[in-house]
This record gives sequence, structure tokens and C-alpha cells, in this order.
Amino acid sequence: MLCIKSISVFQYKNYAQGTWDLDAKLIGIAGRNGTGKTNLLEAIYFCCFTKGYFSGSDAQLVQKGAQGMRLAAQFDKSGDPYEVTALIRESGKKEFRVNGALCERMADHIGQLPAVVVAPDDVEIIIAGSEERRRFMDALFSQIDHEYLLQLMTYNRLLQQRNSLLKQQAETGRRQPDLMDVLDQQLAAPANFVHQKRKDYLAQLIKGVVNRYQAISGESYQPELRYESGLDKAPFPTLLQQSRERDWLAQRTTMGIHRDDLGIYLDDGLFKQLASQGQRKSLLFALKMAAFDLLKVNKGFAPILLLDDVFEKLDEGRMQNLLQEVCVENDGQVLLTDTHPARINKSLERLSVNYRMISL
Ligand SMILES: Nc1ncnc2c1ncn2[C@@H]1O[C@H](COP(=O)(O)OP(=O)(O)O)[C@@H](O)[C@H]1O
Ligand SMILES: [Mg+2]
Repeated sequence: MLCIKSISVFQYKNYAQGTWDLDAKLIGIAGRNGTGKTNLLEAIYFCCFTKGYFSGSDAQLVQKGAQGMRLAAQFDKSGDPYEVTALIRESGKKEFRVNGALCERMADHIGQLPAVVVAPDDVEIIIAGSEERRRFMDALFSQIDHEYLLQLMTYNRLLQQRNSLLKQQAETGRRQPDLMDVLDQQLAAPANFVHQKRKDYLAQLIKGVVNRYQAISGESYQPELRYESGLDKAPFPTLLQQSRERDWLAQRTTMGIHRDDLGIYLDDGLFKQLASQGQRKSLLFALKMAAFDLLKVNKGFAPILLLDDVFEKLDEGRMQNLLQEVCVENDGQVLLTDTHPARINKSLERLSVNYRMISL
């Protein structure tokens, strides 16, 4: 079992400082717009992922006008205390400690505290370009599989080198095919690894999404989800070989797993073009709950669920079902925000779990 017990923040976003007791299965965070509800959820997310969910950079987490920030959170992992201290120093340097010990590599912390976020803007995963869907997949699979994250990081580092080389030749007019051969060779192993893992995990995830979608939407017809990768068409070295001339001209690598997508279709057309608002919402929750399920199966315990303003997105009955399922049937902890204290309070009261209300 995983849950957060408390969190303290210092010079973090709109908070000069603050401490919250979060020792309950269900935490309702109520407050008017701009009072820091989303910021509080993001502080928890930061402790789990070593980076923000909504903020583009670490610098945005530091309170305006302040130098550096600090978060300290107490988690409980299967009965053992798991204390995270996260610092952004005045220099901008980030530091992470778990039970007092410094994390040498941030990546080693990922997956220790699995969490799933659902936020209003997450519908971008469905309607925006492929980058959003890769971000969603990578965040999920990295939590399940540490080696996935390491291989992905290796791939991205080599890809950057390759792209720099392509840019360099445009500036100097001198091509270095030998160096390119070496990079292409090095890229193959991490690319194949990530491709195979995406295939395996997506097969599981997609099954879950389809089931979840049916339950959430009550519709009999289904969206179709497919993993789409250039690597399905040819081995990666062949792809790189074929696209090299184009890459020299484009000054970037046009083929590879950094272009992969999770295609979403409805009746043979693109889901994002054909689906109604309601269907998009259903699919978003189906994706997120399938991610929750996949984490739970692979970790052996439920991830923490962070729901930002979802009362605006789900009707009361569905909301009730979701909370019942996560908190009661899956022993998971849920933190959720709302602008209406009475609405959220009523919803939490109805479930037979211990809950706590925080007013901001
Ligand atoms: N780095 C920062 N320093 C100071 N205030 C910040 C910083 N980042 C965001 N804020 C403030 O936080 C507030 C928004 O908080 P947010 O958590 O989004 O509110 P809510 O979710 O309750 O509507 C805004 O008033 C914004 O100006
Ligand atoms: Mg908010």
C-alpha cells in the first residue's frame, strides 16, 4: 500500500510556507480559483516524479522573488516510512533525498512512488500531436520499468548527438558519414528495446482502455487504439539508412521511436476529429484508469491518484463510482480538488472511508 501522510512546502509557488496533514484515504482540497489547489497537487507530483506536471521548468516552482524552494513529504510504502525531501537551490540545482540519502540519479527515484494525475488540460493527450501521447506513455512505462526509462534516456542522448551532427554539417558544409554510422549503430539497441516494450505495455494498456471506455461511456461501439511506429515497417538501421539523405537536408532525425504514436480512431476516422466532447472525456478517463490498473498490476499496489478539478468533468454518479473503486476496492489514496467545498464534502461523506478536507 502507498499513501502520502503529510507535506510541507517552503518558498514554493504561491506558498511562502505551509504544512498539510494528508493522513486519510481520501483528501478533498477546496478553495476558490487561484488559491493554490493545483499547486498543492503538483508539489506531491514533484515528490513522486522529480519534476512538475503542469510547470514547464523547475524555475517555475520557486516562489516569485525567492531564491530556491523546498518540499518535504512523508509517504508510507507498505508500512515503511518513505520520506522525500526535494530542494531547488539558489543556484537552480535540484537535490532529492529519500529517507535522508541523496539520490545520485533522479531516474532512480522514478517509479518508487507511482502516481496518476487527471487534470482538465489532459484532454490534450487525445487531441494534440503525438508528443503528448508519447509523454503519457513514457511517464507510465518509466514508472513500471526502470530499464525502460534508462534506455529511453540513452536513446534521447544519442539522438541529440545525431541531430547536432546534422546541424553542424549544415553550418560547415562538411558531412561526416563515418561518425553518423557509429551513432546509427549505437541508436539501434535502445530504439529496439523501447519499441519492444512499448509494444508489450501498450497491448496491455489498450485492452484496459477499451474495457474502461465501455464501462464509462456505456457505448457498445469502441474507439480503436493502435501503436504506430516506423520500426514496424523495417529494422531501425535500415530506416536510418533510408532516411539519411533526407535527414541531412532536414538537419534532424526524421525516423525513430521519437516519432512513435498511439493512434486513436473511431469508425476508421481520427477519434479527435469525430468524437463528441462526452466521448473525449470518457476516453480520457479510460486512458487514465487503464494506466492506474497497469501500475497496480505491475507494482502490486495502487498508485496515488491526483484528481484536479474533475468534478467539472464527471457527473456525480460516475465520480462516486470512481472514488468507490479506487479507495474502497483498490486500497488506493485519492487527492482531489474542487472550487465548491459543499459539493466535494458531500461526495466524500457518502463513501465509507476516512477522509479529510483541506480548505485553502
Ligand atoms: N512561482 C510562483 N510564485 C508565486 N506565485 C505563483 C507561482 N506560480 C504560480 N503562482 C500563483 O499560484 C496561483 C495559482 O495557483 P493554482 O494552484 O493554479 O490555483 P487553483 O488550482 O486553486 O486555482 C496563482 O495566483 C499564481 O499566480
Ligand atoms: Mg487549479
